[in-house]
Amino acid sequence: MTDLFSLDDRVAVVTGGGGALGGAMARGLAMAGANVAVIGRTPGTLQRTVEAMGADAGMAVVADVLDESSLAAARDAVQARWGRIDVLVNAAGGNVPEAVVPPGGDVFGISREAFRRVFDLNLLGTVLPVQVFGPSLASGAEGSVVNVSSMAADRAITRVPGYSAAKGAVDTYTRWLAVELARRFGTALRVNAVAPGFFIGDQNRRLLTHEDGSLTERGESIVRLTPLGRFGEAEELIGTVVWLASRASRFVTGIVVPVDGGFSAWSGV
Ligand SMILES: NC(=O)c1ccc[n+]([C@@H]2O[C@H](COP(=O)([O-])OP(=O)(O)OC[C@H]3O[C@@H](n4cnc5c(N)ncnc54)[C@H](OP(=O)(O)O)[C@@H]3O)[C@@H](O)[C@H]2O)c1
Repeated sequence: MTDLFSLDDRVAVVTGGGGALGGAMARGLAMAGANVAVIGRTPGTLQRTVEAMGADAGMAVVADVLDESSLAAARDAVQARWGRIDVLVNAAGGNVPEAVVPPGGDVFGISREAFRRVFDLNLLGTVLPVQVFGPSLASGAEGSVVNVSSMAADRAITRVPGYSAAKGAVDTYTRWLAVELARRFGTALRVNAVAPGFFIGDQNRRLLTHEDGSLTERGESIVRLTPLGRFGEAEELIGTVVWLASRASRFVTGIVVPVDGGFSAWSGV
């Protein structure tokens, strides 16, 4: 059983690996035995994740997921150190504040520029790393791409039209790519996504909690609509990500796995 989930001798790249969820995913992959390169634009946050994994297992690489040449340099640096890349987790992403429609805000006046930015970050920021790292993954025997979606892709969530549409596109791209790569490479390259429910991180803390830690109205309604009755802990994504990255999921491709405390299952009644 341990062998099935083992990532010994594997090399993983985690974009957004300096963030709340990407950092936990990176640590989980390292715990399963992988060497892990974390990618982001801020050296300090990447370094924190590397310290948590141990410098032997981890590597911080500064790159922007929207800049192809910086991704190519990151790929070359990982290849130079570890000689292969087996797993790509696309965890860089998130909302763009200017793309939010506040309560009573102008539905018909959403900033086109902000809409485009949130789309670029979440969709192109997934597509570009696949294009740059994909050939390395495809050259091995058991490659796995894990994209990061959201509950906002499937369930309408107030205020975030651009983010929701972008994550919906990530789901569609995940399925399309999984089919295309399965037909070309078979089990050697699988593609899935994880769709986290609600986890408190730097991006949404102000929206969900007051300064004294108590929940805002939005935070309370999320907890009320989550059957397990709480927010997720970033570490609770590790099991799913390691499963999708490892040979334990060898016959699984093209799915989006909710890790959401039951949020997506419940009608709210
Ligand atoms: N938190 C939640 O409840 C939740 C729920 C569902 C889905 N998600 C998704 O989970 C993923 C991680 O979210 P999180 O909560 O962990 O957010 P986070 O803590 O803000 O982490 C996001 C990371 O992405 C990196 N990033 C942003 N833009 C980038 C770019 N252009 N190039 C490279 N790296 C970039 C950021 O680092 P730099 O700014 O230093 O580059 C940051 O480390 C996102 O896709 C988010 O949409 C989160």
